[in-house]
Amino acid sequence: MVFQFPGVKFDLDIIKKYDTPTPRYTSYPPATELSEAFTAKDFKQAICASNHRKTPLSLYFHIPFCENACYYCGCNTIISEKKHIAIPYVEHLIREIQQTASLIDPNRKVVQMHWGGGSPNYLNIYQVKQLWGNINQYFNFDVSSEVSIEINPTYVDRDYILFLREIGFNRISFGIQDFNYQVQVAVNRVQPEETLFNVMDWIREAGFKSVNVDLIYGLPYQSLHGFWKTVKKTIKLDPDRIAVFNFAYVPWLKPLQKKLPVNALPKPQERLEILCMTIEELTANQYQFIGMDHFAKPSDELAIAQNNGSLGRSFQGYTTHGGTELFGFGLTSVSLLRDTYAQNHKKLKDYYQAVEAVELPIAKGFKLSWDDILRKNIIMCIMSGKTLRFSDFEEKYQIKFNEYFSQELEALKLLEADQLINLSTDEFNITEIGRLLVRNIAYIFDAYKTTQKNKFSRAI
Ligand SMILES: C[S@@+](CC[C@H](N)C(=O)[O-])C[C@H]1O[C@@H](n2cnc3c(N)ncnc32)[C@H](O)[C@@H]1O
Repeated sequence: MVFQFPGVKFDLDIIKKYDTPTPRYTSYPPATELSEAFTAKDFKQAICASNHRKTPLSLYFHIPFCENACYYCGCNTIISEKKHIAIPYVEHLIREIQQTASLIDPNRKVVQMHWGGGSPNYLNIYQVKQLWGNINQYFNFDVSSEVSIEINPTYVDRDYILFLREIGFNRISFGIQDFNYQVQVAVNRVQPEETLFNVMDWIREAGFKSVNVDLIYGLPYQSLHGFWKTVKKTIKLDPDRIAVFNFAYVPWLKPLQKKLPVNALPKPQERLEILCMTIEELTANQYQFIGMDHFAKPSDELAIAQNNGSLGRSFQGYTTHGGTELFGFGLTSVSLLRDTYAQNHKKLKDYYQAVEAVELPIAKGFKLSWDDILRKNIIMCIMSGKTLRFSDFEEKYQIKFNEYFSQELEALKLLEADQLINLSTDEFNITEIGRLLVRNIAYIFDAYKTTQKNKFSRAI
């Protein structure tokens, strides 16, 4: 069965054939390759080299805390109602900013900043001001920079939202997951519809440039009809971007997920039907399919970037700023420089200890080889849905594409036979069928396949 929607084709048989665990390629090599052999000293050297490139900056700040335990959650979070735990965290985060910023050339402009979590609105207004003030003191922001924050809509009021916009955030994101009450109870995240619509009204009143909401399909008690209602209500809410995540069920990694009623999880066939219906509804209601699980209104910068070929991919997913180097701050945060990845400690104790010892709080990292960088650029080109011109890579990397990637080209022929790509002698592009399976196409160029088995969620 094949369903045609604007810009994307849903071919049920092909999707089933390719529904295997694959990395999401928010980085390449994937974060699973990071090693403890990489130290803070290595990262310092990498920062020094990155200063010579003068690349613009993206900054990420991780606020791990949440007041509520959502049972589906796969993120790096600390659940606590004792909000005073955020006080030492903000203090250490500021010290980390001071320490790392002293190594970064102050003339490098910040073009993008994101506060994620957890729920950054766990912080009170005073803490947000304190953190913001320090970031501004140590970094040089471009006037048109994109500044975004994730919030849990249950724990904000109008004043807080107006404050976020006033201080300088211009983009905002919040989780809905599902409007259905039975689903909300099962995942321990009850959010009345009225709350979500009020939050959206306040966001509009405040004048944010772009609003994203998250949905998840594959949660307990979800059905085709039930999720159709959720999608309809989401369209009525009128966000600029919608992320529709495939539920990553990994109870062996996230013990909270064991609280979910396993028998109520929708079966694979039903999940696919839900996904198909979601694409149909969103694309029929002005949302453009950006890639994988992202949709945006044509007026949103993400859709504009897709249309003019400047869409990029980074640690946060699809981005309008592909050409930056990312510095991550806070617990578990990842930094992605051109040839180096680094990740901060995952335990508060280790993170605090490193910061107090005036060390970069790096737990592990990875130095990319020349081959890694070449493959990374190919994989990000595929993930962004762009035509892959072999000559671009031959020129830049001084290779003969057909020779260097002879095995990969053989594998691509199989994808062409399944109509995922159009392959010619000097380029290939992704077909409308292939757009839902970009991870599988990118996977062909992944040199770490053998070490990765069973570490990833399914492609669809
Ligand atoms: C870090 S969370 C932040 C959301 C925000 N703090 C809130 O509470 O609304 C970002 C998003 O990741 C998605 N997410 C979390 N766990 C997931 C999982 N196991 N599978 C798929 N998506 C997940 C949810 O849609 C969630 O809104």
